[in-house]
Amino acid sequence: MPATIVIGAQWGDEGKGKITNLLAQDADMVVRYQGGNNAGHTIVIGDEVFALSLVPSGVIYPEVTPVIGNGCVIDPKVLLDEMDTLQERGIDPSGVRISANAHVIMPYHRKLDAIRERFLGRNQIGTTKRGIGPAYLDKYGRVGIRVQDLYDPRIFRDKLEGSLREKNQLLTRVYNQLPFDAAEIAAEYLEYAARLEPFVADTSLLVWGAIDEGKNVVFEGAQGVLLDIDHGTYPFVTSSNPISGGALTGTGVGPGDIDAVLGVAKAYISRVGSGPFPTELDDEVGEAMVSVGGEYGTVTGRRRRCGWLDAVALAYTVRVGGITELALMKLDVLSQFSTLRIATEYRAGGETFAEFPRQQRVLYECEPVYEDHKGWGEDVSSVRDFADLPPAAQEYVRRVEEVAGVPIRLVSVGPDRAATFEVPR
Ligand code: IMP
Repeated sequence: MPATIVIGAQWGDEGKGKITNLLAQDADMVVRYQGGNNAGHTIVIGDEVFALSLVPSGVIYPEVTPVIGNGCVIDPKVLLDEMDTLQERGIDPSGVRISANAHVIMPYHRKLDAIRERFLGRNQIGTTKRGIGPAYLDKYGRVGIRVQDLYDPRIFRDKLEGSLREKNQLLTRVYNQLPFDAAEIAAEYLEYAARLEPFVADTSLLVWGAIDEGKNVVFEGAQGVLLDIDHGTYPFVTSSNPISGGALTGTGVGPGDIDAVLGVAKAYISRVGSGPFPTELDDEVGEAMVSVGGEYGTVTGRRRRCGWLDAVALAYTVRVGGITELALMKLDVLSQFSTLRIATEYRAGGETFAEFPRQQRVLYECEPVYEDHKGWGEDVSSVRDFADLPPAAQEYVRRVEEVAGVPIRLVSVGPDRAATFEVPR
């Protein structure tokens, strides 16, 4: 394992938390590298269900150091609440380390996220309204506030006042909202800062040190490749880089430090929020995927849109995500169908697309070309060994492997940890 990046190979919600959690059993460090509390990880251990959004999944193991890297955006109140909740449930969060270079989500970021969505009307992105986009916008506009700024009250107030001069104009004059008060925000955030101080660190040095010592480090991606700001279905994407490259910029390690990139994909596909979705099913099959698969967002509770596995998109995410192996999740959800479909090409305007199209319009207009597979007609949720899967299910997995172009290392048939098992080579 030494250094493994776990990324979403679809539009997020693939089950990365579960896979990270599995790998974390043998890890020394689990590192988040992008996103913030727009992500949601549900981890089931025995009867306990843990829903985390910001703290890395590895926090549940005492020997794991959970790290929030510089590429993340941190809402300090959410982080503190999450750490308090963990503490109350008997999990010690004191090992958490936060990059001094990570950016801070401010109240005006959350406000702007919600208000801009409203202004976009029917073109809205369907964001989580957690302030993620506006926080990254300030980061790249070089007016963001970093974690380290909170520990220099003069710099913090300067930056905050500077930022509010512009933001308040925007809020009051363009969006017809009330302005924010710098002193009020400063008081609130300096309190958070005091509580977070013991956790702030030079995380690039920590992560580099762990890798240098040959320790096992898991980089935990949030969202998925198709939500990547550069390689996803822009503008219906998040504002960071969930691809494996994001793990390098988002933590400060080099490409030579990485040993494997494990992509996580569902045996079908889902997305929340707006944007193109070639294999989306607006019928009872899609509805059955939602109900049997429990396809509702961890963070916002929104119903996820569902459809057949899209191999064109999967081959693309394997390529741009730098994925070296896959975990195929929720195979059990497909047990209910007598015929399963995999989209192997798109057809649009008399053309056939075997590769993910360069022109995004095609994604809206295309008809997926499906190949049909016989269902296995029995419940597989209690299977614990690949060899015990019905032959049709094994064939389905092998076919996905073929179209994706990389080996499937793990298959999952249920929420329980034991329901994820290795695929023999
Ligand atoms: P934002 O990340 O809140 O700006 O939202 C941008 C887009 O990414 C929206 O379509 C969200 O629904 C989607 N998104 C953000 N985080 C997740 C996630 O963890 N899973 C699935 N979709 C997400």
